[in-house]
Amino acid sequence: MRRRQFLRANVVTISGWALGCGQSSSSPEPDRPIVAGSEHFPQSVASGDPRPDSVILWTRVDAAEDVEVELEVYNAPVGEYVAPAQWSADGGNVQLATADHDHCVKFRVTGLEPDTVYEYRFVIERDGQRLGSQTGRTRTAPADDADRPVRFAFVSCQDFSGRYYNAYVHMLTQPDLDFFVHLGDYIYETAGDEGFQDTAGDRVVEFDDKDGMLTVARGDGDTFDAALSLDNYRQLYRTFRGDVALQRAHEQLPMLAIWDDHEFSDDCWGATATYQDGKVDETDVDRRRAANQAWFEYMPVDYVDPAFEYDPAATPPGDIRIWRDFTFGRHVHLVLTDLRTHRADHLVPEDAYPGTVVLTAAQLEDTGGVPDDAGGYIVDIDAYEGGAYADALRAAAAAADYPTDRVTGAISVAWVNDVLADTGSDLPLIDEATLATLPRGYAFVDLMKGSYNSRIGSRYLVARDPFARYAAHRYAETDGESERAMGAEQEAWFLDTMRSSTRTWKVWGNEFCLMPLQIDLSLLAVPPAFQRVFHINVDDWNGMGNRRDALLGELADVGNVVAITGDIHAFFAGTPTVRGDDSKKIVEFVTSSVSSTTFQRILQNQVETDPVLSQVSGAASLAGAIKDLLQLPSGPNGHLAYADVTAHGYTLVEASGTELNATFYAHADTEATVSHYEDADIDRLFRKAYFRVEAGSAELYQDLAGVRRRWDAATQTWV
Ligand SMILES: [Fe+2]
Repeated sequence: MRRRQFLRANVVTISGWALGCGQSSSSPEPDRPIVAGSEHFPQSVASGDPRPDSVILWTRVDAAEDVEVELEVYNAPVGEYVAPAQWSADGGNVQLATADHDHCVKFRVTGLEPDTVYEYRFVIERDGQRLGSQTGRTRTAPADDADRPVRFAFVSCQDFSGRYYNAYVHMLTQPDLDFFVHLGDYIYETAGDEGFQDTAGDRVVEFDDKDGMLTVARGDGDTFDAALSLDNYRQLYRTFRGDVALQRAHEQLPMLAIWDDHEFSDDCWGATATYQDGKVDETDVDRRRAANQAWFEYMPVDYVDPAFEYDPAATPPGDIRIWRDFTFGRHVHLVLTDLRTHRADHLVPEDAYPGTVVLTAAQLEDTGGVPDDAGGYIVDIDAYEGGAYADALRAAAAAADYPTDRVTGAISVAWVNDVLADTGSDLPLIDEATLATLPRGYAFVDLMKGSYNSRIGSRYLVARDPFARYAAHRYAETDGESERAMGAEQEAWFLDTMRSSTRTWKVWGNEFCLMPLQIDLSLLAVPPAFQRVFHINVDDWNGMGNRRDALLGELADVGNVVAITGDIHAFFAGTPTVRGDDSKKIVEFVTSSVSSTTFQRILQNQVETDPVLSQVSGAASLAGAIKDLLQLPSGPNGHLAYADVTAHGYTLVEASGTELNATFYAHADTEATVSHYEDADIDRLFRKAYFRVEAGSAELYQDLAGVRRRWDAATQTWV
């Protein structure tokens, strides 16, 4: 029964206003005064998922035992207590906070007025005293027919270790915000991952449940800790939510949240983590379940289906559905998706054998003709020279603790010769004369996967053109399943919701970047193997380009679709476009991290620590010049109108019946390690970039020197 009380969220149906006692937030029991007790609510209060008549209100009590938590709601403009006049069968405005859910409680408050500010607090009784929480403030969504602009912020990626949430402090200086959207990486599951986390100072995470946590060995021999147990994940939310700037944001505004990868595990798909790059199977349903449960307990999110009962024993993804949509008056339809739960594995598996041929010239001919670059020469390794070469390759694999049974079939000659050279084999390299007799095709190594278990060439830094041909082949072969992003049910819902929306703007809250971020190294002084065009990251939509094209085509037809995304720790603005059809595009705004290490710094760290990249001359300076590389004139990213890769912050949106304005508020990465929470002049830290989209077009505009300019992808200029 207790579980049911929490999990079904008591419905407090307000059927009318009780007589208030004037302007002050008077208690319904004036003879029993409420005293300040915020220390009993160490994560403060939060609200979320606002609708015209309802909102979710959340708190957590610091308690060892079960404790009854009472909710008080006040209509702020009129200063009246709102009585829970009609009680639901599940129990009205009192819930039991129990250890089952880490003493978190959530109420769905219904029957509210649209577009109205409500104040609320929670009350517990201890030692005969009535102790009140901090007072929160929230706002219901405007009514469906409200013809007013909607103002909201969106954020992502708020690592806690050594870093401060100055972005929220500035966000709260914005007048008249309706809500904020969190696109994920609300927590980071790792502690002390030196690849991107600060490990000095007192703002660090150290798991209490050490027996329950995961210790991850990195490629360079260092280790870091990661959440594994339910207690580990809960501790992360308790810790992050202990930050006063984040608390203030939740006390002032309702949040709409989805998760990305770090609410569970870096670069995950489904219940599978990727720390070990395929050395072991990192699928762990219990870990996913723990991550989901903690998220659900701590986030002020609603249930999609009112009849839904959260079952901690259910197997993900059946435990919770987070894709959902909201409307705000006549002009904004916010559609939130889940791109982590149902997606397919990365197209190039981290444990793929680099030499394995994945696309022969013959297959290329079937799918659009053989390009000039028809891949390398290939050899049937089992038959070649009586299997002697296969034996040598298997010995090399075994020495690297890599499964030898994958060394079979068609193998890249370039890979064979590399391995022979590297291992000092007595076998002669396969020579030019032999090559002329061999067929050609693409192996994983041609996509830049150069080692046995690696993220480079798998999730990061993949050769664009061979990858595109391989992806197209797999997409056709699997009937699209190779690029499953949302799964069939979510995708059907998503497209149907978008197509049938009657709001001016369809805003797609999407965890990760839609726009291709490609770098062309073909003319640079790097080793010949690197002189080509790369995707920096294919863990995002770049790894699902065919599915992306299909969706973008649909969304372009819907019109007035704006994607708001995050994950990449940089600000980008542009127009993701269907490859090969410039007329089909939408507008995207990518917000940088609130605090997590910036895109450029992460790239620089990767180059420094990766065994392959660290050996590539010039790679470090290229990482430091990534903005220029991305915006190379006549380069591959014509759709990319704006990039800021060294800043943190948030993005502000104002959407009306005629236009949607977006502003990046960005502060330098050097300020992320400094608290500006009490800084009265925090605005001076923030640089701003303004953009506009006009209803009826999918163009991106900027006012430059007082003149309205449009981004022209063909010439890569504002015209
Ligand atoms: Fe992130």
